[in-house]
Amino acid sequence: MSGVHVNDSLLAEGLSRIAEEIDGAFDALLPVPEDARARLIEAMRYAAIGGGKRLRPLLVAGVAEMYGVQREAAIRAGVAIEAIHAYSLIHDDLPCMDDDAVRHGKPTVHLAFDQATAVLAGDSLHAFAFEVLADPATSADPFTRVELIQTLGHASGAQGMAGGQMMDLVAETTQFDLHTVTRLQQLKTGALLGAAVEMGAILGRVMPEGRTHLRGYARDIGLAFQIADDLIDHEGDAALAGKAVGKDAAAGKQTFVSLLGAERAREQARMLVDQAIAHLAQHGREADLLRAIARYIVERDH
Ligand code: IPE
Ligand code: IPE
Ligand code: MG
Ligand code: MG
Ligand code: MG
Repeated sequence: MSGVHVNDSLLAEGLSRIAEEIDGAFDALLPVPEDARARLIEAMRYAAIGGGKRLRPLLVAGVAEMYGVQREAAIRAGVAIEAIHAYSLIHDDLPCMDDDAVRHGKPTVHLAFDQATAVLAGDSLHAFAFEVLADPATSADPFTRVELIQTLGHASGAQGMAGGQMMDLVAETTQFDLHTVTRLQQLKTGALLGAAVEMGAILGRVMPEGRTHLRGYARDIGLAFQIADDLIDHEGDAALAGKAVGKDAAAGKQTFVSLLGAERAREQARMLVDQAIAHLAQHGREADLLRAIARYIVERDH
């Protein structure tokens, strides 16, 4: 394929640019106050600045750019969804959930600070996300703001990420079939990735009828993404991953890898990526970043 190198650099530039922009926005939006709340904001900044791949903001910005959205609006929506993601990881790492000591190559928030501060930092990042979206700086149009808020709210709660996290905990002690594990993954991980794509389309004022192919793309990369995460847990390198590996099997957790085996899970992920890219057939070069993101999702080592 002619565009492999072009797409590699497109992706590399996209990832480094979004990381810088998201870090800059968190830094500006989360100043540390000179009072007793300082520790809380320090913990929020510790979780949100640096470290992650920024895949969700990159998806927001990638879709938004296809529809000519102003960069600042896309970055604000990206900050909001990354705040939800960062909060979900703080809570996911707590002793009452996965009990993890390392995230993004550094001690998890509850170890760098303490458990109570970690709970509050998660709570506050959650609230912060919606405050950012509700601000007219994100969009001058109140209907657009409400749609962004509704989309992210739906994807974060019991109908989305938190619901998936509940199923994930149940999956440690209950035998789930492939259909139920698929549903679990769609909620736990797919919902927020889907919201990222949707928020780019909302900012771009794409009518719901015009979003069908983007939703198909999001559904496929969401599932592929979680299979890749489970493969990293199964056979990845903790130093590269920046987090502990081998935890799912140790917890007796049902995943695609435990149900299908690593080889078939990997094949499934690759098939999903091809399918995701096929959903973008109506687009030309303007969708190359989304195509590159889809490939990156299964080829990544962290
Ligand atoms: C990890 O997500 C947690 C899951 C949803 C499986 P990411 O791989 O996107 O986390 P970052 O890049 O470290 O933030
Ligand atoms: C967490 O899934 C997904 C969230 C919604 C936070 P995992 O527990 O598999 O994520 P990692 O492997 O710790 O990053
Ligand atoms: Mg977990
Ligand atoms: Mg975890
Ligand atoms: Mg995992």
